[in-house]
Amino acid sequence: MDADHNDLLDEQIRYYRAISAEYETHALPFPGGAELSAALDAFRPTGSVLELACGPGTWTRQILRHATDVTAVDVSPEMLAIASARLGEKRVRFISADLFHWQPDRRYDVVFFGFWLSHIPAECFASFWSLVADCLEPDGRVFFVDDWYRTAEELIEGERSSTIQRQLADGTAYRIVKVPHRPADLERALKQIGWCIEVHPTAGPFFWGAGTRAHD
Ligand SMILES: C[S@@+](CC[C@H](N)C(=O)[O-])C[C@H]1O[C@@H](n2cnc3c(N)ncnc32)[C@H](O)[C@@H]1O
Repeated sequence: MDADHNDLLDEQIRYYRAISAEYETHALPFPGGAELSAALDAFRPTGSVLELACGPGTWTRQILRHATDVTAVDVSPEMLAIASARLGEKRVRFISADLFHWQPDRRYDVVFFGFWLSHIPAECFASFWSLVADCLEPDGRVFFVDDWYRTAEELIEGERSSTIQRQLADGTAYRIVKVPHRPADLERALKQIGWCIEVHPTAGPFFWGAGTRAHD
């Protein structure tokens, strides 16, 4: 990755660190969230679960209804502190790490990520999924939720760019990555790199995906 991309990913980290306290006030004003939760419950993330980019632990709490234990990774100590205070759970291991440089120390039954895939630049898409494969038991399963929503004001480099601008409540602006994946295209792209994952749209701009490595 070139220096510009590293700068962008560093700025994205700074944005999420800065926004942690107000993160949940920026929830998207669309229906569809309940469908995502229902789909996750129906998937039943049982066993040992790895949650990537866990943020303040909103999904972690739901995963714990099914899982034996959760390892939750995020780059932001501020997000992890909120999650830890909220969950106060002996069944959660928190890891502070940059996912573009992190390697797992074991394998998991399920890998989950919420609203993270769209913040991965296209150049890192295949290597991210290779990391997911390295995190999974041979018969392990994946579940993710995300959205493709970007406002006109956020598109500082135009519709075709995945670099957008987001603001804190006080107006401080940061550049971040937001790839507007569409479910059918994403399903096809995953198939091409060896995954068998169905991606389902819900109401609004949300979607969820569930599946496994493709079997030979
Ligand atoms: C859109 S939030 C999603 C949080 C949570 N999963 C949810 O659905 O509410 C993206 C998360 O990715 C984290 N993040 C950003 N860059 C990261 C990186 N390089 N490595 C690990 N986590 C990162 C942020 O700190 C933030 O918690």
